[in-house]
Amino acid sequence: MNAIKLLKQQHREVEALFKQLEKAKSARPRKKAFEQIADKLAVHATIEEKHFYPSVKRRQTEEILLESVEEHLGVKRVIADMLDLDADDPTFEAKAKVLKDLVEHHVEEEEETLFPKVSKLLDTDELEAIGEQMTALMEDLLESGSPREAVPSETEHAASL
Ligand SMILES: [Fe+2]
Repeated sequence: MNAIKLLKQQHREVEALFKQLEKAKSARPRKKAFEQIADKLAVHATIEEKHFYPSVKRRQTEEILLESVEEHLGVKRVIADMLDLDADDPTFEAKAKVLKDLVEHHVEEEEETLFPKVSKLLDTDELEAIGEQMTALMEDLLESGSPREAVPSETEHAASL
C-alpha cells in the first residue's frame, strides 16, 4: 500500500475513535476508546518514525519532520499520563481533549504540508516500498500485544530522524 494512503487511513481511524471517546458516557467505554486510540497512535508514531520520516527526509522536508517528531513526543507524553489514570478521574476528559487537539494539529500539518511535499519528492514505487515496510512493522507491533505499553518509555526525547 502507498505510504501516504496508509497514514491518511490511520488518521481517519483515530478521528473515528476520538468521536467514540467523546460519546462515551461512563468510565468503562471511555477507557476502552482511549486504549484503542493509544494503541493506534503508538503504532502510527512508530511506523512514521522508523520508516516514513527517515525515508522522506530531504532538505525540503527536514524542518517539518523535526517539528513532527516533537509533536509525537507531546502526544506520547499525554498518552503516558492518561495510561496511569482511571477514566473517571476528573482530569481524564481534559487530557483527552488536549490529546485530540494535539493529534488534530499534527494530522492537519501532515496532510496539508508534509504529504504534498513528499508526493512531489518521491514517486509511486518509492511510496509503495515505504508503505510495505510500514505495514510489516505495523503487523509486528500488533502481534506483540498492546502497542500502547511502549509509549511511557518513549517520553524522554523526540525520536531521531
Ligand atoms: Fe505523525
